[in-house]
Amino acid sequence: MIKKGIILAGGHGSRMSPLTKAVNKQLLPLYDKPLIFYPLSILMLAGIKNILIIVNKGQLNQFRKILPEKNNLGIKIEYKEQLKPAGLPQAFTIGEKFIGKDNVCMILGDNFFYGQSLTKILKKNSVFQSGAKVFLHPVKNPQNYGVAFLNSKNKVIKLVEKPKKTKSNLAVTGLYFFDSKVIDLSKRLKPSKRGELEIIDLLNLYKSKKKLKAEFIGRGGAWLDTGNVKDYYSASNFISTIESRQGLKIACLEEIAFNNGWIKKNNILESIKFYGNCNYSKYLKSIIK
Ligand code: DAU
Repeated sequence: MIKKGIILAGGHGSRMSPLTKAVNKQLLPLYDKPLIFYPLSILMLAGIKNILIIVNKGQLNQFRKILPEKNNLGIKIEYKEQLKPAGLPQAFTIGEKFIGKDNVCMILGDNFFYGQSLTKILKKNSVFQSGAKVFLHPVKNPQNYGVAFLNSKNKVIKLVEKPKKTKSNLAVTGLYFFDSKVIDLSKRLKPSKRGELEIIDLLNLYKSKKKLKAEFIGRGGAWLDTGNVKDYYSASNFISTIESRQGLKIACLEEIAFNNGWIKKNNILESIKFYGNCNYSKYLKSIIK
């Protein structure tokens, strides 16, 4: 079972500068909510209530304002700082105490997932026992991501970070399941040519021990990029289109917590007070009507 989740929400945000000079990228608005609500909603949909959010040095208070440790979401939030963005696997050494001997799900703070199949995939995979699991999704520009190469039996045979040329279109998304061995394995990694510890190197260690599995988020699910300003706005428009059409919100954290049975009506009333008079609060009112 996976009971613990990490959101890695630091990073330089350099591709989004100057937007990210004063504000962490994960706090920028993705349509009507801060970006971090979306990956957090994914952990909550997976039934994970123990969450560590890793942020850049000096940015704790920015995050606490919107996601305080004492919250109305029925979840336990802890924070840790990453002193320098030295690569994704650092999350597991920073989170060593938090992980302890448990399995952990990590999601990157800038990853957006959507689709009916997703909750099913997450629930199915929450019985994960050991090793590591990656979630793959077909994309047109695989060279911008970690890429997985599969054999005819759909087994991962190779993982490469941002290959210049590739015959595989399967990107490794920013959602990963690991057992607690991830802490020791992360400590063994050496920085790559670009000077960072690479998640792909970590996954390759699991692969070499035959402990890596892959799950597919097929074409019925969406995994959108928020890496640059243009893609950020496309993702924002996607959310706006769906929400306007359905009258339902994507990543309304209180709604997920309420549906999971983690919070009661009075927690939602508290949230309404916290957010003030806005559309998000109106939506919250409609949930408890
Ligand atoms: O989004 C999926 C991709 O994420 C994977 O396909 C790649 O294999 C993986 O390396 C990663 O690639 P990116 O180039 O997109 O990673 P980026 O450096 O942009 O960081 C992703 C998120 O993690 C972003 O929200 C910032 C945060 N981050 C990143 C680093 C390197 C940290 O909080 N600390 C870090 O040290």
